[in-house]
Amino acid sequence: MKVLVTAGPTREHLDDVRFISNPSTGKMGYAVAAAAAEAGHHVVLVSGPVDLAPPPGVRLIRVVSAVEMRDAVASAFADCDCLVMTAAVSDYRPATRLAGKLKKTSETLDLKLVRNPDILAEFGAKKGRRRIVGFALEAEDGERNAVAKLRAKHMDWVVLNSPTAFGAERADVTILARNGERTVLEGTSKLDIARKIMDILSSKKR
Ligand code: CTP
Repeated sequence: MKVLVTAGPTREHLDDVRFISNPSTGKMGYAVAAAAAEAGHHVVLVSGPVDLAPPPGVRLIRVVSAVEMRDAVASAFADCDCLVMTAAVSDYRPATRLAGKLKKTSETLDLKLVRNPDILAEFGAKKGRRRIVGFALEAEDGERNAVAKLRAKHMDWVVLNSPTAFGAERADVTILARNGERTVLEGTSKLDIARKIMDILSSKKR
């Protein structure tokens, strides 16, 4: 299969030296890319800024912002069989990016943010025969919210995780399938979670 994976955070710059982001380290997405390559698949990895080396045999496309990530996914989507969207995409970006460095003048500063593209929703809507795995990061009401995201973004599987997964070596996740199947993995390494995702993706059922 041709597997397209996204990983890491996005950075949304407000000037040349400051940005809004999140603590994603990219470990989960790089583990998916490694597991897919290990299973013999052709892998394109679209990565936000992280400190990880790409797994051997994987084609890496580096991006910074959500808009760049969307464009990189657009460039590889037509040719993929599966999209695994692990990236922690920033939902908003500053309405304007200033050149140089914003000087401090006033006591308070209002920052106007605008919505970023929802990459998974956009490409989920035109998935055709492709298989799509998304992640759902939920602080509460996990399964209900994850299943709502699965439906809204046309995923075949959603991997439910929690904010404690950020940067961790191991995580508790529940993989929920569109057909109702549930796989619970507790205290599992990200590489083993990734291998399970690849097993499920390679199976016939969805
Ligand atoms: N996602 C995306 N584009 C965005 C936001 C999220 O493609 N702008 C993808 C993520 O990569 C993930 C899935 O959508 O696979 C769900 O992301 P999550 O952050 O859990 O949820 P949101 O859709 O952003 O919803 P909310 O923040 O309101 O919970």
